[in-house]
Parts: sequence; C-alpha cells; structure tokens
Amino acid sequence: MAFANSRGGQIFLGVEDDGAVTGAGDLRAADQLMQKVSSACQTSVEPALSCTIIKVEVAGKIVVVVDVPAFSTDRPYRADRVYYLRDGTVCREATRADRRVEDAEVGRVGSRATGRFLVTGGAGYVGSHLVAMLRDQGHAVTVFDNLRTGHRAAVPDGVPFIHADLADAAHLDEVLADGPWDAVFHFASWTQVGESMRMPLTYLHENVGNGVRLIDACVRHGVRRFVLSSTAALFNETGDAPIPESATIDPQSPYGDSKWMMERALAWASRAHGLRSACLRYFNAAGADPAGRLGEDHRPESHLIPLVIDAALGRRGTLDVYGDDYPTPDGTCIRDYVHVTDLAAAHLLAVTRLDDGDVVWNLGNGDGHSVMAVIRTVEAVSGLRVPYRVAERRPGDAPVLVASADRARQAGWEPRFGALEDIVRTAFAWREKHPFGYGD
Ligand SMILES: NC(=O)c1ccc[n+]([C@@H]2O[C@H](COP(=O)([O-])OP(=O)(O)OC[C@H]3O[C@@H](n4cnc5c(N)ncnc54)[C@H](O)[C@@H]3O)[C@@H](O)[C@H]2O)c1
Repeated sequence: MAFANSRGGQIFLGVEDDGAVTGAGDLRAADQLMQKVSSACQTSVEPALSCTIIKVEVAGKIVVVVDVPAFSTDRPYRADRVYYLRDGTVCREATRADRRVEDAEVGRVGSRATGRFLVTGGAGYVGSHLVAMLRDQGHAVTVFDNLRTGHRAAVPDGVPFIHADLADAAHLDEVLADGPWDAVFHFASWTQVGESMRMPLTYLHENVGNGVRLIDACVRHGVRRFVLSSTAALFNETGDAPIPESATIDPQSPYGDSKWMMERALAWASRAHGLRSACLRYFNAAGADPAGRLGEDHRPESHLIPLVIDAALGRRGTLDVYGDDYPTPDGTCIRDYVHVTDLAAAHLLAVTRLDDGDVVWNLGNGDGHSVMAVIRTVEAVSGLRVPYRVAERRPGDAPVLVASADRARQAGWEPRFGALEDIVRTAFAWREKHPFGYGD
C-alpha cells in the first residue's frame, strides 16, 4: 500500500474480516458514507494532521477512506484519528482487524504529521525531556515507568502514565497490544556504572532481560521502530581523539555491556523481524529544559554538573575532584556534555531516519570540558564559589571521553545548547528553583 505516493484526493480500500486489505472498494458508496460520517462527526478532519482516515462498513465489510489533501502529497503521513460508522453511530475504538490495517498505514513522522509513542522510563531525567518535546510537537505519548528512579511530577498532566515494571510481562504485553505505536523509546534502565560492578547480574536482568522482553513484545505487536538509550560506556578508548561509532566496542562494566547486548539484540530483531532501531550512545547528558519545566533529580546524584551546582548552593559538602594529574591541560578529566533537550531532538530525528535503515549514533558536542572548567563555569553562571578539594583518582576513569557525532550531524542533528554556559545555566536555573528536585 503505497500511501506515501498518493497524489491527493481519496483512497478507498476494502478490508476483509481477517484484516487483509483487498483493494479499492465501491468508491461511490464509500463517498456517500464518508460524507455521512463527516457530517456526523465534526472533528473528522484534524487540522494538525495531513490526512484523515475514516473507516466505514459497506455491505458488512470495513472500507477505509483515506483523505489526503493535495498539499501533503510530497510527504508520507499517518493519521491517528480513525472513525467508523456502526449502527449509525460514529465509533473510535479499534478492533484487532482495524489495528492490523493501521499498522500498514504508519508513515514517516515528520514536522507536520503526528504520531503515537510509548516511552519507557519517561519519568526519568532524559526520558521526561523527550516526553515534553513530543507533547510540544503535538504527538500522542504514553509513559511506562516504575518510578524507581523517576518522578511522577516529571510527567506532564494529561500524558497517560502507566505505573508498571518492565519485568511484568503480562502488563507489558497488554500495553503493546493496545497499539498502534509508531515507535517505542526505551530509556528505562539501571544506569550506575559503579553499582553495576557490584551487582552485575541485577544489571543483566534489569537492562538485558527486561529489554529483550520489551523488544519481543514490540515484534509480536507489530511495532516497527525502536529507539534505545545507549551509552559511551561501550568504549574503552584511552586516547583523546573524538570517538566515532566505529571505535572498538570494549565495555568495562556490566552496565556498558548490558547496553551492548541490547544493541546486538536489536540488530538481530531488525534482521529477523524487520524491527528498525536507533541506538543512541549518549556521552554525558546534562542541562535542563530551557523552559524550566524539568530538570535532573537523580538520588543519589552521580553526575558532575548537578553535584557542582549543589556544592555552589551549599546543599552538599566540599566537592571531591578525582585526580588533577591526568594528561589534560589542567590535569582533570575531560568529558563531553550534551544538553538533554538536544538529546531529545536527536531521538525525534532518529525515528524519522529509520525508514532508510537502522541507526547508530554517538551523541555529544565533540568538544570536551574538564572538571575544573565545569567548576569555573558554575561559578561564573551562579556568582557563587564552589568548595572543592582534590581527591585520589577513581579506578577506571579515562582522561578524555569525547564523541565524534559526525553521523548524527550529517543526518541533520544540530545541537542548540552546545555551549557549556547554556548547559550550566539551564541546570542551575532548575536546581535553584527546585532545591529538593521534584520533591517526592
Ligand atoms: N544520564 C546520562 O548521562 C546517560 C548517559 C548515557 C546513557 N544514558 C541512558 O539513558 C537512559 C536514561 O537515563 P536517565 O539519566 O534519564 O536515568 P533515570 O534513572 O533518570 O531514568 C530511568 C527511568 O527508568 C525507570 N525504570 C528503571 N527500571 C525500570 C523498569 N524495570 N520498569 C519501568 N521503569 C523503569 C526509572 O524509574 C526512571 O524513571 C538510561 O537508559 C541510561 O542508561 C544516560
């Protein structure tokens, strides 16, 4: 069904009882019925959508009427409003057969079309910023989160929230069956490298066991696009050159290894089942929603920027700087900080690229900043002094970890908040206003 190539106007498809699409239906009958549906249902044409899909029954069979305005002919589309007439009433609930038809209809998620997305871990730091962006762009989004480290208040009012654990296979299955989902964004995970060294099997259960269960449910329920939060912890580079996607994979922790296993599982699911995936390897997510709605609230916090900010605000003791004798200009470790809103934008871009094949992107700004540079920037932005002392090096800390994000940039990703000042300013603004984070 090449909807994407349609030239505008209406497309009519007959649908068998088992959901198979059999070709054009009776155009005149369908046209009359469509008019009836349109007049009965004032909202049958959504201004935000580039087309309308209406299903009606003709002689006991469902006829799908796809109304494609001429202006959208250069753009693949999807519609997320489906109406059909039963006993003179306009209905919206989807039967299993309807869903199969809709699965075949999903097109590119572009700036004009809207989609329906499931976000696991959407109450967490990075996930909540994507949820906000999806909402801002008019998409329908549902969050699935067990709130182990996430926050209910990070999920905007009006966003369906499923409080559940990925380990609950039956519940997960139910959610995936309630499609269609244009894509699943998978953020839910245990995320601490140090903790994973002490609890490797828990990390494998949580990140790989639950992750593969989710992939399997996606395959069984016809989801076609999957975006994974992966990590720079896949690499063990010791040089100071930006790290491309092609660098040797050599995870040094169960956490990093769990993400690599997920990347492999997705590669196999793509090959065997056609589930397209984007593996997005973030370097150091940082910053906060520029509109001030969301921020970073990990407990305990292990990320440098919020730790430095809390030290400046007097909310924690003296900050430990782990080693000042690394082979870097000021002797402290250099990391690549990438704004969480830029990461969210990369997710949306990646999902539109999946129609061309699987995606693997390293995501960072490509210019690292040392621990001392972060301290100085927090001091400059806040006007406060950061109390710190130099402590022993931590085992396993690489001197420099910086991403080469050329692939994502070539695909059109342009970080808007690449400057360390912007990252720190947004993080500081949120933390200053929310001294107790989300307060839960
Ligand atoms: N923050 C970073 O700098 C960074 C860097 C690289 C990769 N990542 C990856 O990005 C993702 C998000 O990171 P974050 O910093 O937002 O973490 P986070 O802890 O803030 O968010 C994770 C979310 O997943 C939920 N969750 C965890 N296990 C779950 C389960 N079994 N069932 C349902 N929900 C569950 C948590 O409650 C939380 O809301 C993670 O996969 C992480 O590995 C993060």
